[in-house]
Amino acid sequence: MSMWGSLFFYLHRFIPAVNILPMSPFRKAIAAQILALPIAYAIIQIIQPRWGGEPGILGPLLGFCAATVGYKLEIPSWWIPINLAFPSLTLLALGLHLPPVLWLTGFGGLVLVFWRVDKNRVPLYLSNEATANTLLTLLPPHPCRFLDLGCGDGRLLRHLALARPDCEFIGIEHAPLPWLWARLRSARIANLQIRHGDLWNIPLGLYDLVYAFLSSDPMNGLWEKSKREMKPHALLISNSFPIPGVSPLQVIEVPDRRHTRIYSFHPGQAKNI
Ligand SMILES: C[S@@+](CC[C@H](N)C(=O)[O-])C[C@H]1O[C@@H](n2cnc3c(N)ncnc32)[C@H](O)[C@@H]1O
Repeated sequence: MSMWGSLFFYLHRFIPAVNILPMSPFRKAIAAQILALPIAYAIIQIIQPRWGGEPGILGPLLGFCAATVGYKLEIPSWWIPINLAFPSLTLLALGLHLPPVLWLTGFGGLVLVFWRVDKNRVPLYLSNEATANTLLTLLPPHPCRFLDLGCGDGRLLRHLALARPDCEFIGIEHAPLPWLWARLRSARIANLQIRHGDLWNIPLGLYDLVYAFLSSDPMNGLWEKSKREMKPHALLISNSFPIPGVSPLQVIEVPDRRHTRIYSFHPGQAKNI
């Protein structure tokens, strides 16, 4: 067995099943990195006589320990390579000797754009133009009110608002930088309003169409909220994420490269499968 194979075998055997606390994947990833430090330190003490102080092994060893701890914490599988690479990349970055303020600025920028992605599990990615054009086909021929839950930089709403001046478009966004950008870029469009706030706090009863491009995580909650609040004939439209256990009224495949699927529902009327 290779060195890494034996290491995995022993770590897997001797690290207890530590998945005792309900934690978000992000917190598990941090916990794995922290727990990896003493484990890697202990391994270095053991292998010290044969190791010879080779510094290049530190990053991979820390990453390997963090990935194994993450595995024991039952972290989602796509976090494992992140845990594996993080220490080596951190050590590489430290080697660049960049001023600390640069890292702080980078981190601050990411926070302002992605906000509480660790909590909400909804990152920023934008609907494309083909999707915007498909959404236009779902708008009724008469004036209506359209809400985008988590409107990002507002690009989608600008496209729709300019194409349908007879309708009213509202977007809500909680991440400060996308919200500010959306607000500034939309200031001159009379039928478009960008609000700052949490999508879970906006009542849905005033809208004919409610659009969500979120992630699979909030879909059950969104369904419950929509059932409670949306008007009987109002349409809930989800880009890419179906609602578990609920049959959509319609599924449209957008003619784009990622074969985006648009699911629509009448929250008061959709049947459970
Ligand atoms: C995948 S992006 C979609 C952006 C836009 N709707 C579009 O289709 O181009 C999801 C957006 O929802 C925002 N978001 C996530 N959770 C939110 C919340 N609880 N309240 C408001 N906005 C939220 C994110 O910041 C992000 O900008």
